[in-house]
Amino acid sequence: MTAFNLETCARPNILQLEPYRCARDDYKDDGTNILLDANENAYGPPLPASNGVNGFNTPDVPSIALSTLHRYPDPHQHDLKQLLCTLRNTHAHTQKTLTPANLFVGVGSDEAIDALLRCFCVPGRDRILVCPPTYGMYAVSAQVNDVGLVKVPLLSAEEGFQIDVPAVLAKLDEDVKRAEESPEGGRIKLVYLCSPGNPTGSLLRKEDIAKVLAHPSWNGVVVVDEAYIDFAAPNPETASLAEWVTEWPNLVVMQTLSKAFGLAGIRLGAAFTDPAIARLLNSLKAPYNISSLTSSIASYALSGQGLATMQANRARILEQRDRLLREMPKIPGVGRLRGGTDANFLLYEMLDAGGKPDNATALKVYERLAENQGVVVRFRGKEHGCLGCLRITVGTDEEVTRFLASLERVLREVRGN
Ligand SMILES: Cc1ncc(COP(=O)(O)O)c(C=O)c1O
Repeated sequence: MTAFNLETCARPNILQLEPYRCARDDYKDDGTNILLDANENAYGPPLPASNGVNGFNTPDVPSIALSTLHRYPDPHQHDLKQLLCTLRNTHAHTQKTLTPANLFVGVGSDEAIDALLRCFCVPGRDRILVCPPTYGMYAVSAQVNDVGLVKVPLLSAEEGFQIDVPAVLAKLDEDVKRAEESPEGGRIKLVYLCSPGNPTGSLLRKEDIAKVLAHPSWNGVVVVDEAYIDFAAPNPETASLAEWVTEWPNLVVMQTLSKAFGLAGIRLGAAFTDPAIARLLNSLKAPYNISSLTSSIASYALSGQGLATMQANRARILEQRDRLLREMPKIPGVGRLRGGTDANFLLYEMLDAGGKPDNATALKVYERLAENQGVVVRFRGKEHGCLGCLRITVGTDEEVTRFLASLERVLREVRGN
């Protein structure tokens, strides 16, 4: 049960939108029609006509020819959405089945983060709730849209960087009460949860997410960002809650091909949700947001051959993650692992000469790693609960070897021993 009501939660101007339709929705391109409907250039692009872009050579995924790029891409991406559904229909969380109607696909999950804000939050009035330390784009996108930010920090690293459920529920209670007293003040429309978290690397507990979803009086949407879900323990195949959107009308689960699939360059993200919310997101997006090249490459990555390669690469990353977990504690000056091991990065404290986690030390290590060793990691010491922390992405075998040697050298210099 939930108090969610789309008709009173989404912005009225968005509820009135109709999904984009083009002439080709009514009159399909069957190869015999001539297409004079979209002001394209019928002579084609100034590119070599004979070259295919990918030459994937599989029966499932057609290779895209450069010479066809004068045509607009498919605005609906039904086939690509079906591949995403097939990947996430594990029936580990429900017996119900995702269909393409449950999906929005965008230019990375960053587009979904922004589209949700525009769909639900009235600029200058409404708010979102985030749980620091968390991914920075929720706040950036909120600011761009002139939407307020309410922060309820995650529990401490010792408590696994999990949701502080009583604090989140209390904040939502308070917001409901405030909105009843002064409706013109706006309200919290979205709760952004990152699972596995960035920079925490911790998978959130499903039962905690359920408690937020089931808040008895809050009329809003829970957005679970699963950018790193394919690295999650114990079983990355069934960790995703994407199919759970068939059980909750107020749940959105975002994913991306930028991480485990190694396709950050094509910009493909997805939001799984109830068909009613998906319809709104699809109505407000730019009609041709997914390019033909992106669609074709993503479809290959989600086909049998693509998935097999992704799984093999993931196994190598997990091996290197385990190696870092073994080797990091042996380096003098490396403190505690903060957070979890559910992503393709690890969050470690850097210790000062006295053995305390310290931002000045971590910053120096960060700078010297980059400037003297050519190794770029991320300083996260200013994030809530991350004092003295660096976030290290798991690289290849050779990269991890070089990183470990560089870190040992730099820490020795910085700590003066
Ligand atoms: C938690 C999280 N969500 C979303 C994204 C954005 O992913 P995309 O490349 O799909 O826009 C990132 C990228 O680092 C991330 O860490």
